Amino acid sequence: MADLFSSFQLKDVTLKNRIAIPPMCQYMADDGLVNDWHRAHYANLARGGSGLVIVEATAVAPDGRITPHCLGIWNDAQAERLREIAAAIKAAGAVPGIQIAHAGRKASANVPWEGDDHISADDARAWQPIGPSAIAFGGGLPRVPTEMTIDDIKRVKSEFVAATRRAREAGFEWLELHFAHGYLAQSFTSPHANLRTDEYGGSYENRARFTHETLSAVRDVWPESLPLTARFGVVEFDGKDEDTLSESIQLVKEWRKLGLDMLSVSVGFTIPDTNIPWGPAFMAPIAQRVRNEVQMPVSSAWGFGAPKLADQAIRNEQLDLAMIGRAHLENPNWPYQAAKELGKKSPAWVLPPPYAHWLSRYKSPTAG
Ligand SMILES: Cc1cc2nc3c(=O)[nH]c(=O)nc-3n(C[C@H](O)[C@H](O)[C@H](O)COP(=O)(O)O)c2cc1C
Repeated sequence: MADLFSSFQLKDVTLKNRIAIPPMCQYMADDGLVNDWHRAHYANLARGGSGLVIVEATAVAPDGRITPHCLGIWNDAQAERLREIAAAIKAAGAVPGIQIAHAGRKASANVPWEGDDHISADDARAWQPIGPSAIAFGGGLPRVPTEMTIDDIKRVKSEFVAATRRAREAGFEWLELHFAHGYLAQSFTSPHANLRTDEYGGSYENRARFTHETLSAVRDVWPESLPLTARFGVVEFDGKDEDTLSESIQLVKEWRKLGLDMLSVSVGFTIPDTNIPWGPAFMAPIAQRVRNEVQMPVSSAWGFGAPKLADQAIRNEQLDLAMIGRAHLENPNWPYQAAKELGKKSPAWVLPPPYAHWLSRYKSPTAG
């Protein structure tokens, strides 16, 4: 039986354990470029002992950034600096992953600690967001996006492909397509955001088309030997959950045929008014259903920060990987904490030797 500290193989990549750090935007970049903040942050996280570190949502185009301070991968200078991040993660013993993203109608927002809302249109830092239809998200994101033309759709697909090539050249070994959280790809799939009447809207097949075409085009350039994964909101918690979930499962089955290797099961966040049952491991049963019905490995985040919960989700075959986000911001050495709590032998040795050697013979003054 696998547990949190079992290794995990997907394609030719082996993770040393089932602990993964999900993408978490830092909103610390200028011009989409990695700087000292990112260098320290990702090295620090990777040294904590997780098997996989996925770099934050990295925009495939300037208008695909959530905020002016998101990372980007639309030019070679950005990719060159991302190479340092991939190398630092790998040097620390984790597999370097990256999430590539287009924010769609949620783009052009202030960073979270300055409001998380749309930058007003007359502010020089703002840009015009795009989306499948000219419908705003609402709430703090009221800007109406420009409805994408067929040429816009072609352009964004080619931006995902160019970003994929750059991610590979920069040394990433795990690619995650951001098809979740109400950003561009998720909004194409959703009747809440996509009211198009052409071949990219309306019926389920048409709403699925953007993701199918993007995924196929990316698979053509991403090495067959390396994991191609996506994050997708399979449910909105808007009262239509069974219908949405069934449709999502159908969609993911089709992605599997197109070459998707794993799904990070998440929430849609396509509309502001939902009834999300926040709580420890609340996505576990939903992830398990996707895993069983699609017959594909899955990960999930949202409230697995208690080591026992994460371990149980792996042991119960609800998840193949547990994504541990904010708990890693609280304690970058979370895998060490988990190893101690779960009674793993020589727990300090989940950390690199310069830490493990000393901690293995150290009694913490807070240990009681
Ligand atoms: C600071 C921060 C930034 C985030 N940025 C991203 C992101 O870039 N891409 C993404 O898919 N999810 C993002 N998320 C969601 C996380 O990946 C994760 O799903 C969430 O934190 C819940 O997991 P947790 O309970 O372990 O923290 C972010 C979350 C936080 C807290």
